[in-house]
Amino acid sequence: MTLSGKKIVLGVSGSIAAYKAVVLLRELQQSGAEVKVVLTAAAARFVAPLTFETLSRYPVFQDLWADGTSWVEHVHLAEWADAFVVAPATANTLAKLAHGLCDDALSAVALSARCPVLVAPAMDLEMYRHLQTRRNLEALKAAGVTVVSPGNGYLASGLEGEGRLAEPAEIVEALRARLTTPLLRGKRVLISAGPTQEPIDPVRYIGNRSTGKMGIALAEAAARLGADTTLVLGPTHLAPRPGCGKLTVVRIETAEDMFREMTQRQAHADCIVMSAAVADFRPREALSHKIKKEAKASGLALDLVKTPDTLRHLGEHKPEGQLLVGFALETNDEEDNAKRKLYEKHLDLIVLNSLNDPQAGFGYDTNRVTLLHRSGEVERFALKPKTEVADDILAAAARYLRPGVSV
Ligand code: CTP
Repeated sequence: MTLSGKKIVLGVSGSIAAYKAVVLLRELQQSGAEVKVVLTAAAARFVAPLTFETLSRYPVFQDLWADGTSWVEHVHLAEWADAFVVAPATANTLAKLAHGLCDDALSAVALSARCPVLVAPAMDLEMYRHLQTRRNLEALKAAGVTVVSPGNGYLASGLEGEGRLAEPAEIVEALRARLTTPLLRGKRVLISAGPTQEPIDPVRYIGNRSTGKMGIALAEAAARLGADTTLVLGPTHLAPRPGCGKLTVVRIETAEDMFREMTQRQAHADCIVMSAAVADFRPREALSHKIKKEAKASGLALDLVKTPDTLRHLGEHKPEGQLLVGFALETNDEEDNAKRKLYEKHLDLIVLNSLNDPQAGFGYDTNRVTLLHRSGEVERFALKPKTEVADDILAAAARYLRPGVSV
């Protein structure tokens, strides 16, 4: 889900981490949100209100009593907002919000808000550990506030520990999760992603161009929709963003690993999406020593054998009621080939992407897919970011998993 069209009020309180709120503001806007900013007096000492005003293109609200500001501005802002995000939230601001105090612009907006509220604490180690701060955070959680936990690391005091403001990307992810209807809550979703690598010797392998982006986006989206999600992920430098929900990542290397990890988990899944680009062949044996080129002066022939087809096996052993989704990457006769795989592998749904589409497929941030259902229904989608393609695929899956509930 993008934040397209969402109206967000960003509350910034007085911590050195206030400078990161500028980055957060930009990330929220880049996700499609419209953002207005409310500052505490202390925050305005760390970052000039003009910075937020210029970037948000809205006046910054910071003084309940300022001339020219409506005395009910806090009520208007709270009504305007689809969500209120307080980042950084200092120990003092958390304490005020936990106790319902409202003696400044930020806390007055918080008390007026009927929309979802998220707080991202930032403070020094001992303040964060303090019993009273823990109690305040518990009270906020009990009141339905989402707490984006701080990270561990270097603190401005010079100490190391918990209390660093969560990264802006993580706060955006938590917001997305909070604004998403948990359509897949209670469902267990198993997803495969990425390439596999089939070793030739300790140095070389046979691989493919998959980066895992599409499958990672699917796993993030499933977790955001409330599913208990497991991602079996081949070798890639990419990883799911933290903060999107309940998501376990199992790292694998080869097609055999993929087969083992997926088939072992099949019985526990309500839905399986096989988006990995699994190698179809592997060297008959992986040598334990590096092949030396002098020993192969006339060239090197590799003896390849077939790898197990995980998806076909999952289709043949599909328990009653399980939804099985495959992918087809084609270069020619795309829909015919995809349809053949849909039936031969006993799938409910297949996601077709063509390597002939510009900006779609391996490595791109965008994709263009066609969904072919076993019922014969065909859904064709436009080129869009992989995060949105993931939402489209899971919306289709949700129609099977939650019949009668619309996305
Ligand atoms: N797949 C799999 N195990 C394999 C190969 C593919 O589970 N050893 C799965 C992929 O994850 C995908 C689907 O099968 O969901 C189709 O993969 P694709 O590469 O398009 O087709 P193949 O079945 O490998 O056939 P071909 O390469 O001949 O097109």
